[in-house]
Amino acid sequence: MSAQTSLDRRSYLKAVGAAAATTAIAGCTGEDDNVINPGTASGFPPFEFTEDGELMGFDIDLAEAVIERAGYEVGEWTDTEFDSLIPSLTEGNIDMAAAAMTITDDRAETIAFSDPYYEADQAVLISDDADFEPESLEELADRIVGAQSGTTGLDELDALVEDGTVDEDDTRQYENYTLGVQDLENGNVDALILDIPVAENFADSRAVSVAFRVETGEEYGFGLRQDDDRLEDLNAALEEIQDDGTYDDLVAEWFE
Ligand code: ARG
Repeated sequence: MSAQTSLDRRSYLKAVGAAAATTAIAGCTGEDDNVINPGTASGFPPFEFTEDGELMGFDIDLAEAVIERAGYEVGEWTDTEFDSLIPSLTEGNIDMAAAAMTITDDRAETIAFSDPYYEADQAVLISDDADFEPESLEELADRIVGAQSGTTGLDELDALVEDGTVDEDDTRQYENYTLGVQDLENGNVDALILDIPVAENFADSRAVSVAFRVETGEEYGFGLRQDDDRLEDLNAALEEIQDDGTYDDLVAEWFE
């Protein structure tokens, strides 16, 4: 139904775009402005994960809905490591990062963000089999603590190293949190710091639990290149999707 609508709209835009392209051919860079190639970093359920080799999750569906609603075409998804997403964007290998990426001042120096689409805090995740149930960050003292490279969870861990709570040598960095959860279950790490919706998702399916929440008040946004003027259309589409119930349907599908 809505896929059909966006297809029609897409082929219309393609026809219009083709006419425009013939006049603009001299300045053609080989890029198709109608196509948006999204990128993500899977292993972060329910936002992005793979099942039987297929990429899925809340971000995948929301990003595609936003792209199509804005009248663009979803190109090819790239699944990479989280800390490769910003370089991939700036180098033009992807056009949009849809990866539960927190909007931070630091990142906003390099890339542009869409309006926020999700709110989250951090959480401390522990093993169900270990005899360790911390209730505060202070109680992580002298423990082995891990986080995913390049994330705000790692920023929290770095702060614990800086204030002397955790020893630098006792920190672990993971390419993705699925590997971290494995290490937690195997007793190789005492705690992980990660976004609470993802921590809760792991707690539902694995032998791990959320020990406590760390209130960081983060907001996720889609990342784009700073000179990409399609951002405005994508923001308008995101707002429509939030207003018309599409967003709530996706939340119900992936979080409840
Ligand atoms: N929200 C956190 C951040 O922006 C973690 C995001 C990790 N995302 C992922 N797809 N692995 O740093």
